[in-house]
Amino acid sequence: MIELNYQPVLPAKRDYGIGICGAGGIVNDAHLPAYRKAGFRVVGIYDRDREKAQRTAAHFEIDKVYSSLEELAGDPRVQLVDVAVPATENLGVVEAVAGAGKALLIQKPLAENLETARRTVQVLERHQVLAAVNQQMRWEPGVRACRDLMDQGLLGEVFNIALLIFVDTPWHLWGWLKQKPTIEVLYHSIHYLDTIRFLTGAEPRRLYADGSTCPGYDAKGETRVCLHLGFAGELRATVLTNHHVAFGLEGQQSELRVEGTEGAAIRRLGLLMNYPKGVADGFRFTSRRLGMGQWISAELEGSWFPDAFVGPISSLMRAMGGEIAAPETAVQDNLKTLELVFAAYASMREGRVVGLS
Ligand SMILES: NC(=O)c1ccc[n+]([C@@H]2O[C@H](COP(=O)([O-])OP(=O)(O)OC[C@H]3O[C@@H](n4cnc5c(N)ncnc54)[C@H](O)[C@@H]3O)[C@@H](O)[C@H]2O)c1
Repeated sequence: MIELNYQPVLPAKRDYGIGICGAGGIVNDAHLPAYRKAGFRVVGIYDRDREKAQRTAAHFEIDKVYSSLEELAGDPRVQLVDVAVPATENLGVVEAVAGAGKALLIQKPLAENLETARRTVQVLERHQVLAAVNQQMRWEPGVRACRDLMDQGLLGEVFNIALLIFVDTPWHLWGWLKQKPTIEVLYHSIHYLDTIRFLTGAEPRRLYADGSTCPGYDAKGETRVCLHLGFAGELRATVLTNHHVAFGLEGQQSELRVEGTEGAAIRRLGLLMNYPKGVADGFRFTSRRLGMGQWISAELEGSWFPDAFVGPISSLMRAMGGEIAAPETAVQDNLKTLELVFAAYASMREGRVVGLS
């Protein structure tokens, strides 16, 4: 049986002091549970809504609740600031914190338009701080396992990647999101675009996108999409999502497929199905190079939420410790993912294929 290498590489030094900005849903449901599992050291938390910060601090035994962002940035115990606030707040937080010279991890999306994202990166570069985006699907265990099969040469030449997502997403739980003119790609499929870049290690040359919603649904932006990315040679990647599959679990599907000349792998992303309960993840693959002529199911430890959240912060800590030159999801790299996001909106608006340089 082959070994699958899919766990995040942990930093040699794990006791960097983490200061968290934002005590909302994602910090409570994913950041803090993941950091607790990994044994990372959270020293303090700040939220504009102090009560929320206090509740989170009590629940996760964080001993310091800051009264301001400046107090967080000024705490000498904090070496890494973990930001999880609405995207529209990111630039302001970065401007307030970057001068303190601490590393930053910022939730996706880095910004809601490319110009603000680029400005945010400029501020970070001016202050010469290491900064990464929490684009954690790259560390989803099945995504890493696919990449490992590719690295081992078991899939041959990969020519097709597909994300087929047919689920019932309760957008109403995020009322603020339903009011945005850009919803699905900027807040959801951004994960798939970043994952496709990670898996292929290549940038697409052209992109076509179509976005729409369900008849009568009161969202301002798109809630279902088709994204098609053309790369050099025969490689293509497709993202197809419909978040309005509301006829029970039986009709739902949530799948990443990676197909090559010698083999294929299929990851079921159970988290998105039967929301919010989810169903079990799955992972199966086949390869002619293993000579077995059959599909193999593998049990992977961990899931997208919360386990993958160990990945981006570990990569940032490794860069802080000089183990790697830059975090894997460095803000500069993330601009390339955002360029695809906004190329998708240009394609939708103009109804045409967008060429990418
Ligand atoms: N990576 C993922 O898969 C994932 C999943 C969910 C959310 N997110 C992202 O994480 C971010 C937060 O999402 P959430 O679901 O936790 O939202 P949320 O609304 O539950 O929490 C946001 C928190 O930020 C606080 N806040 C707002 N502005 C602030 C500021 N300037 N300074 C300090 N605190 C401030 C709010 O009081 C609130 O407690 C969003 O950008 C979202 O896109 C990412």
